[in-house]
Amino acid sequence: MDIQVSTGRVGEVDVQALAVAVFKDEQAHEGFLQELDAATGGLIKSVIESEELKGKEGETVYLHLGEGRGELKAKRLLLVGVGERESYKAAQVSQMAGTAARALRARNVKTVGLIARGAESDAERSAEVSVEGVLMSLFEPDKYRTSEKEERVLERLVIVAQGANEDALRRGAERGRIVGESVNFTRDLANEPGAYMTPTIMAERARAIASEFGLEVDILDRERMESEGMGSLLSVARGSEEPPALIILKYTPEGFTGGGTVSGGGEGLLAFVGKGVTFDTGGISIKPGENMELMKYDMTGGATVLGVMRAAAQLKPPMPLLGVVPAVENMPSGKATKPGDVVRAMSGKTIEVINTDAEGRLILADAIAYARKLGATQVVDLATLTGAVSIALGDVNTGILGTDQELIDEVIAAGREVGEKLWQLPLDKEYTRQIKSDIADIKNVGGRKAGTITAAAFLKEFADGISWAHLDIAGTAWGDDVKPYRSKGPTGVAVRTLLNLIERAVRASSGNKGDKGDKS
Ligand code: BES
Ligand code: MN
Ligand code: ZN
Repeated sequence: MDIQVSTGRVGEVDVQALAVAVFKDEQAHEGFLQELDAATGGLIKSVIESEELKGKEGETVYLHLGEGRGELKAKRLLLVGVGERESYKAAQVSQMAGTAARALRARNVKTVGLIARGAESDAERSAEVSVEGVLMSLFEPDKYRTSEKEERVLERLVIVAQGANEDALRRGAERGRIVGESVNFTRDLANEPGAYMTPTIMAERARAIASEFGLEVDILDRERMESEGMGSLLSVARGSEEPPALIILKYTPEGFTGGGTVSGGGEGLLAFVGKGVTFDTGGISIKPGENMELMKYDMTGGATVLGVMRAAAQLKPPMPLLGVVPAVENMPSGKATKPGDVVRAMSGKTIEVINTDAEGRLILADAIAYARKLGATQVVDLATLTGAVSIALGDVNTGILGTDQELIDEVIAAGREVGEKLWQLPLDKEYTRQIKSDIADIKNVGGRKAGTITAAAFLKEFADGISWAHLDIAGTAWGDDVKPYRSKGPTGVAVRTLLNLIERAVRASSGNKGDKGDKS
């Protein structure tokens, strides 16, 4: 899709259709709508007076202007309700753009002018989130369909903001393209069947983005993991014919020697660690068959890390970043780890494996240890870790827990600005009692109570002494239903949150924290 910007008169935009945001209870005789009403020969007034469109979030009205009617070059118009003007921020602009793009693609429109109307306070940010929203909305999971596949494609998108600064719009649109494409990159990986996304293939994808965008890459194979003493990670890989891979990506800003973390100033190193179980059968503690096919997305945390590093390599923040993805397949076999086995993690801790289906924490334990060995002082990990998190929070909020409240607060704030909700669960030390083992230092499950918390309590054993936050995305990484601005399937959740977290950290260290993202 070709992405352009336009700061001139709306009537002159040479596209098949214009999509226009309409605020709640907005009247046709004021401001921009008045202009549009005049240019359409009174159509806006007639739609609003008919009460077909009240500007409520998600409402749409689609109109054909017909030849000779009105003064717009575009002969089709999509009005998109966006709710209250005061609460129309970056997240809502992005959804408006997505809703418009999906609706117009469905009507076989090829060229679209988007009038998101968020640009008054920050044209650059508004253009960015508009392009993000459009690209994300157009992702479809039906990659392997060969018959009856609808090939409707949006060919050209024009971001329209009358009177805005054109360079700012361009910069924003380009950032939006990078972020939107990276979110879709993550979704594409998450969507791949297990056979097409093995640990080896995932590592190849990491190598490919490293060479395309300029990142350092290192892939540890089984032998190197053995020499590092990663008995916990390796215990999960044992049952599979597919060799494991520990993927390391490093971004270093050009000509840069210092460090940087969230709210930690110019020192230290921020690492993202993502669970990469390319398929989770449960191992010997095998899962029931129902819905097991979904366990192809158990590598979404890892895919999220790859997506974030892919975008960061192009956005080039002045802060180094580390990405770590332990990639394994969890299978039952004659070689597989058995319930009751005791394994020794890289940190030296011994773990009794009560349930081989609690494998995510086993691989993350060693991945976090290795991130620390590489110098990480701050870790944000992401994992489709527990079914319990969807019982607690459904598909609305990502669960967040950790040891550094300031970091947790920053992640939550970064998420809110991009429309990704996170809800903190407690991590009191009392929960750690549930993972005491009779035979080893700890065991890998904590019983039926507080499943998401005891999983985090397990990870905490490997994150002591550093600043750490853990995101359980098991409930939010997959969408069961189509939305006006999004297909079903992988959501790409948390890619934008983490990119915004980096943005905010950079802005904070240059002294004007957190007032930009919420303005548009
Ligand atoms: N990958 C699953 C968690 C999961 C479940 C993700 C549903 C997405 C949707 C994880 O490895 C797992 O199996 N967790 C177990 C832990 C239990 C054995 C303590 C669970 O949640 O049942
Ligand atoms: Mn599992
Ligand atoms: Zn799993």
